[in-house]
Amino acid sequence: MDTKKKKYTLPDGYSLFQTTLKSNDFLNNPIKFISKSMDAFGGTYSAALGINRKLILTQNPDFINYILKENHKNYNKSALATERAVQFFGKGLLFSNGDYWLRQRRLIQPAFHREKLQGLYDIIIRSIDEFLLQFPIGESINIYPSVHQLSFSILIKSLFDIKLSSQIMEELGLIFTELQDFLIKDINQPLRKLFYPFTGTENIQRKKAKKLREIFIGIVNERKADDNNYSDLLDMLLKSKYEDTGEAMTNEQIADELLILIFAGHDTTANTLSWLLYLLSTNNDTAQKLTDSFDGSTIYECLNNEYLKATINEAMRLYPAAWMTERVAIEDDEFEDFSFPGNTIIIPFFFGLHRDKTLWNEALKFYPERFIGDTKTAKSKNYFPFGAGPRMCIGNNFAMAEMSFFIFLFLKKFQIKPTGQLPDMRPLITLKPDRVLLDIQHISG
Ligand code: HEM
Repeated sequence: MDTKKKKYTLPDGYSLFQTTLKSNDFLNNPIKFISKSMDAFGGTYSAALGINRKLILTQNPDFINYILKENHKNYNKSALATERAVQFFGKGLLFSNGDYWLRQRRLIQPAFHREKLQGLYDIIIRSIDEFLLQFPIGESINIYPSVHQLSFSILIKSLFDIKLSSQIMEELGLIFTELQDFLIKDINQPLRKLFYPFTGTENIQRKKAKKLREIFIGIVNERKADDNNYSDLLDMLLKSKYEDTGEAMTNEQIADELLILIFAGHDTTANTLSWLLYLLSTNNDTAQKLTDSFDGSTIYECLNNEYLKATINEAMRLYPAAWMTERVAIEDDEFEDFSFPGNTIIIPFFFGLHRDKTLWNEALKFYPERFIGDTKTAKSKNYFPFGAGPRMCIGNNFAMAEMSFFIFLFLKKFQIKPTGQLPDMRPLITLKPDRVLLDIQHISG
């Protein structure tokens, strides 16, 4: 007899048979499929993961808050992150759990406090300035590759403020992209694993991951032997000491954390900025209002510009780079009328929550003003662009500063017009636009 069925009250959803039947629909367009299912089941539903395991997907803000914040101690990142992704990207913050994660988070967190980040602002601004000098202009330009390259190079320069040859930068970028692609296919097409022994695909990727790690360990070693003063993130990581032992991280640990910061920080920011430029191109009023609000202010002042913050927030509401996340319950748990066994996977579906018509007025409209004034606090309850609770994005202040500086400098230089082409959403690990075609001109031209 299956006692589990009697004991737990899982949300309605799909049986194993239905899940199997619908798996292609899901894989073809996960956002469309999950959104439709959310409508059908009222914002939370379950699906079967094999015979004895369940998955719960939710866009209920209280449930999400419960998992990520109120009862976070009962939730870990799943094996997908901590066993599989770890093999390629190492055991940094994003892919670790438990005591190890907590110790690392406590050690690294101070480097990301706003005051500490100020030391990086000049590096970020310099990188953007240099980059915009060669930003492509003309008609129907796909800005995505440029914005992606920019956010990658900003992160690399903020992590270690050294001049890497463009060849190494390119090589690093390529390895990251290839490993990410491999991981996505590995997750979405589990049967592929059966062929790895014959195709050698996994071994090739492992070698690339090893190379990536060696490059980073090499950078850490070089820095340790360098007497110059630096004010980059690597310097902060090298100086950080564990509270309990007073010791610093090993070179391998630092390399792991550097890898994770790049992994977590570059696609997310590049995607958000690309969506944002697209939205600005189709919402002239907002672009004009921003330009006016920058008049007479310094670039540093843009960090306190309410309208700019609201515009970025609104872009992340409609196109959250982290469109979902995942947790696994350690022990049995319950939320409101639901109860579920330990080992259940929970998927907070941020994309659906951010577009929920019952929570947002004119949910699909781009309207930055909704994040200004009295309503903004109410909104934050239904809004998780950077996650929530103790595992909330460690780089959120960094990302907000980078995006603010970019928009400030970009709009001073360029005028953007839409081309009538709505970018397609590619919900990979992050929510990527397939391409963002814009007409771009110099303001003076
Ligand atoms: C627009 C840009 C960004 C977005 C939307 C974003 C979003 C997120 C979200 C939602 C999480 C939580 C995931 C979860 O709870 O499972 C997260 C975690 C994380 N983010 Fe970001 N992120 C951004 C930029 C960055 C940047 C620039 C960095 C580093 C410089 C970074 C580093 C991290 C790390 C290390 C974690 C894991 C934290 C932990 O588990 O303790 N992120 N990010």
